[in-house]
Amino acid sequence: MDKIIIEGGRPLVGRIKISGAKNAALPLLAATLLAPGWHTLKNMPDLRDTRTMLLLLETMGVEWQKEDNGTIRVNSAKLASFEASYDLVKTMRASILVLGPLLARMGEARVSLPGGCAIGARPIDFHMQGLEKLGVDLTLANGYVHGRVKELKGGTVYFDIPSVTGTENMLMAAVLAKGTTVIKNAAREPEIGNLVDMLVNMGGCIEGRGTDKLVIQGVAELRPAEISIIPDRIETGTYLIAVGATGGEVTLTNCNPSHLPSLLEKLRIVGLEIKERETEIHVSCPAPLRSVDIKTLPFPGFPTDLQAQIMALMCFSKGLSLITETIFENRFMHVAELKRMGADIRIDGHSAIVKGVDRLYGARVMATDLRASASLIIAALAAEGTTEISRVYHLDRGYDDLVGKLSMVGAMIRREKE
Ligand code: UD1
Repeated sequence: MDKIIIEGGRPLVGRIKISGAKNAALPLLAATLLAPGWHTLKNMPDLRDTRTMLLLLETMGVEWQKEDNGTIRVNSAKLASFEASYDLVKTMRASILVLGPLLARMGEARVSLPGGCAIGARPIDFHMQGLEKLGVDLTLANGYVHGRVKELKGGTVYFDIPSVTGTENMLMAAVLAKGTTVIKNAAREPEIGNLVDMLVNMGGCIEGRGTDKLVIQGVAELRPAEISIIPDRIETGTYLIAVGATGGEVTLTNCNPSHLPSLLEKLRIVGLEIKERETEIHVSCPAPLRSVDIKTLPFPGFPTDLQAQIMALMCFSKGLSLITETIFENRFMHVAELKRMGADIRIDGHSAIVKGVDRLYGARVMATDLRASASLIIAALAAEGTTEISRVYHLDRGYDDLVGKLSMVGAMIRREKE
């Protein structure tokens, strides 16, 4: 296992190119199951999760090729299996995204239940209830969900809470169902817009893109698509927050500022200077940091996937910050590790009260999940002394070349075998 070692206290200066979004790449890869022929996916990030999804597709008989410029070509012409095994699903919950497309293409799917994860129970009841509305017969046995359907039929689905992958699974099933499907209280994350664009390129008929009501008119068949994966807004946000913590001046390129409305607003309140261009964000941090309260919410609210990172930033602010997590029940695993670096944080139910301190100190810390790891990286970049972060495989799931990108802007960061 590898560890990352950071000598803290250096401002970040330069340019960072943002990669394609993990959470867009995964549903887009799953969507290639819907139509035989070569699909072209551009701006594919090089991540452990995207490699896991490709491996999962391979087990079903999908072929794929990598081209030079971050483009991947995928062909699901010869599907040989409709099963996603426990071995792969346990390493990546988003494997559940194959459920909808497999049912639509093959009329049958057997997917291991994802179970809990480091940040909470994360059930899939919305996915199942939604698919049942489209006529799927679902059974649970031996840790697997098994679905069968002769012909998918349109139906109306209402999500109690907007679920991102739940909405995506429904879209991928409904696009080939007979008749009209309506998804009410659909999630509105930009990654869903990217999937809608891909499905429309494939010949799907979907109205309501970007809203909480999606209307899908099923079609008889789809064709392969060419699509570019949107920039990763969570990677973008992580680097913006890192500049806030360390000081300095960075231009993020190949990103989309309109996908981060709440973060940019909050960072301006904190004291960062942010200039937005169409595909770039310029950030500098001239003033001392002010504290700000945060509540995670579905898009366009503050993303839960940036909660751990903004908490690291608040450790360096003047005053008190109340950070409330409303999406996942157990997403404060980074708190204990930040405290080991000298942070003053108290947890009260779903909220954390962060009192800014003069400095954090380097320590040996352990990453517990993907975004918790990113928060420790931010804390370490701004801390006094050396921090060693172990269990780096979490970061590899979602950050493309993190060590390379941070080194390029002046961070003293290296990766070593543990
Ligand atoms: C996706 C993202 C993840 C992000 C999360 C919230 C991907 C691959 N992952 O995860 O990075 O943190 O959105 O923005 O895109 N829920 C249920 N039953 C369900 C489904 C969800 O109760 O069947 C609950 C969840 O426990 C959670 C809330 O709904 O409280 C939202 O979760 P959801 O949007 O489904 O998260 P994911 O799609 O798993």
